[in-house]
Amino acid sequence: MTAIDRARTVAVVGTGTMGQGIAQVALLAGHPVRLYDAGPGRAREAAAAVGARLDRLVEKGRLGREDAAGARARLHTADDLAELADAAIVVEAIVEHLPVKQQLFTALEEVVAEDCLLATNTSSLSVTAVAGPLKNPGRFVGMHFFNPAPLLPLVEVVSGFATDETSATRAWETAAAWGKTPVRCADTPGFIVNRIARPFYAEAFAVYEEQGADPATIDAVLRESGGFKMGPFELTDLIGQDVNEAVSRSVWESFFQSPKFVPSLAQRRLVESGRLGRKSGHGWFPYADAGASKPA
Ligand code: NAI
Repeated sequence: MTAIDRARTVAVVGTGTMGQGIAQVALLAGHPVRLYDAGPGRAREAAAAVGARLDRLVEKGRLGREDAAGARARLHTADDLAELADAAIVVEAIVEHLPVKQQLFTALEEVVAEDCLLATNTSSLSVTAVAGPLKNPGRFVGMHFFNPAPLLPLVEVVSGFATDETSATRAWETAAAWGKTPVRCADTPGFIVNRIARPFYAEAFAVYEEQGADPATIDAVLRESGGFKMGPFELTDLIGQDVNEAVSRSVWESFFQSPKFVPSLAQRRLVESGRLGRKSGHGWFPYADAGASKPA
């Protein structure tokens, strides 16, 4: 068993939607967790949000009061990357932008111990490319969680060209120890799920753009007849239109702008106008407040 020991610290860098979910998963698996975010005050806000989620689990009877208190006591924030020096694994969930991720990992390499596993939660960038500038790309791996990370079991464990077999195995076993269902895959654009899901979103948006049906109708059809938990419009409102569009662009670019993966103009308009989904209070559907989970 090469899973990372529960007594060792998990560092989460980038504490937005995904970072908070991954932190919750690692905390409830028993690890000390340290949060770092480049946005001023954001790591502390994220720690408060994770704490509030633990409280809700207690209220719903899904988590014991003592377990929640223990998890809270293990949750820390860092004001500086240097404070991540004791991490056994860093899971990165920052902005989906290659040079920014490369810069972060180059800086992290100077901070963490030799045996620290470096993992990216990228949805669509090449793991090989993110690891490009690193001195030791062998310990670099993709760990792609799905949103919401505490609920969805799948984790794609992605090996780049330079990823060591031991690092990929360690990431797989760690995800399994965290109660997830990891799958190994290679570094192809969009990995497994995001590649297969592109035509799902694209065709739904095309039906809407051609005035075939409205978003609520298409969502209802896919939920009720297709057996999907969520339709593509409500799902992209949950994911974030900006995040989802970035993935579409990245997969399209990676396939040399193949017409098969052309991004949606209607989604582009949403992003340009700040209608990012639940997080901004409006996406395909309006929400009562930013962060609300049901359309207004
Ligand atoms: P988000 O926008 O909610 O959070 C990103 C956080 O990273 C922000 O708090 C921001 O301040 C911080 N950040 C940006 N640059 C930074 C830097 N250089 N150093 C430290 N912190 C920095 O984004 P979200 O949705 O959590 O996505 C994060 C990553 O996870 C992206 O790579 C995305 O593609 C991936 N992902 C997103 C999913 C989703 O459904 N939203 C699902 C699976 C993966």
